[in-house]
Formats: sequence, C-alpha cells, structure tokens
Amino acid sequence: MGFPKLDYVSSAPDPWNNKFTHFDGNHDAKYWHGPIELEAGELLYSFVRGTKPEVVVETGTATGFSGLFLGCALRDNKFGKLYTIEFNTNLLARAKKRFEDENISQFVNAYQGNSEDFPEILHNLISKSTIPPFDTIDLLFLDADDGHDYKHTINEYNNFRNKFTIKMIILHDILSFPGPRQVFDEVKHDWKYSMILPTARGLGVLLNNE
Ligand SMILES: C[S@@+](CC[C@H](N)C(=O)[O-])C[C@H]1O[C@@H](n2cnc3c(N)ncnc32)[C@H](O)[C@@H]1O
Repeated sequence: MGFPKLDYVSSAPDPWNNKFTHFDGNHDAKYWHGPIELEAGELLYSFVRGTKPEVVVETGTATGFSGLFLGCALRDNKFGKLYTIEFNTNLLARAKKRFEDENISQFVNAYQGNSEDFPEILHNLISKSTIPPFDTIDLLFLDADDGHDYKHTINEYNNFRNKFTIKMIILHDILSFPGPRQVFDEVKHDWKYSMILPTARGLGVLLNNE
C-alpha cells in the first residue's frame, strides 16, 4: 500500500515565489527524462485513490515515474487499469522494469508509439478484444513531448476528445511550458470545472462532473 518506493527526492523550486522553471537539472541525472515533481506524483496518487477510476490513460511514460504513482494507486484501489504510451523504446523498457519491480504490472499496460495516435491505438485494441471495451476515460494525464509543443498537445487533446468521453484531464507542466498552458486556457470553458494546482511545474485540471 502507499506511494511507490523511490530513491528520488524532489528539489522543486518554491511555487509561490515566481520560480516556475523548466526541469532545473538539480535532480539526479539518471532521472533526466523530465519526470514529474514528487509532489505532483503524490497528487496523482491521491486523485486516483479519491476518484476510483476504472480507466486511466497517460501520454509520455518516460521512465515511469508518474506511472508508478498512478499504478500504485490503482493497485491500492484493487481495480482499474493504466494505459500509457511512450515514443522512446529505451525509456519504455526502463518504465516496464520499474512497474515490474513495484509489482504493479497487472494494473499497467504500457505501449510504444506516438501519443497523438493513442486514441486510435486504444480503439483498435478494443475492437480486437485485446483489452476490455471502454468508451469513457476516467482520468487522462497528458505529459508527452519533452518540449510540450502547443500543436502536439492540442492534437492529443482533440484526438482523445473525438474518440472518448473523458471525465477528467490533467495537463502537466502548465506553469512551466507555454504549450499546455495555451491549450488549457483555450479549452477550459468547455469543462464544468477547471483549476491550476500550483505544484512547481503546475497541474491543469479539467473536470466534467455529470
Ligand atoms: C516530460 S516526459 C514524461 C515524464 C513522465 N510522465 C514521468 O513522470 O516520468 C515526456 C516524454 O514524452 C515522450 N514523448 C515525446 N514525444 C512523444 C510522442 N509524440 N509520443 C509519445 N511519447 C512522446 C518523451 O520521450 C518523454 O519520455
């Protein structure tokens, strides 16, 4: 039960002192692939524990840092599945090893591919009965693309919205990259609730509570 076992300590800058920064290099180099802040991971864990999702989808697995928190929360809920996608095969292999080491592989399906295609990939997996059918994503966590390019993020967003009903979207790096922030500002009025959680790099939460 509880948070994943980690040898990673956050050195997040002070979010209340206008120090939102790109990944600042103070972290251990072996985690250089831009993992989310430890505190953001703890929040993701809490969201999953609190909202009890059946289907969680993540873009940008990297080495599985955020995936560990999402997967551990599903394990502690005792149900649900995380579907996550990563472009880079080496990073994906490291993530899968972490999921195995943490004993959460049964709660996590990790795929190699382009996150903009992930909605289509999931649809194909469902139509081939490779995964159980779903048309609703309870929690969608968007964290692909190291540069968090606006075009990439809005494509991901639109592609998911076109294929699935989504209850909650969390955009990462909303205070440290202009791309996700622009997407958040453009679409937030389409949602019943929206808010920014001021972690060091920011989480943008969009929520339809019907
Ligand atoms: C900011 S990191 C994700 C960090 C991760 N969520 C964590 O906490 O460990 C972004 C990741 O997205 C991956 N990526 C970049 N473009 C992508 C794409 N088009 N499709 C899938 N993954 C992509 C990168 O290889 C990188 O590992």
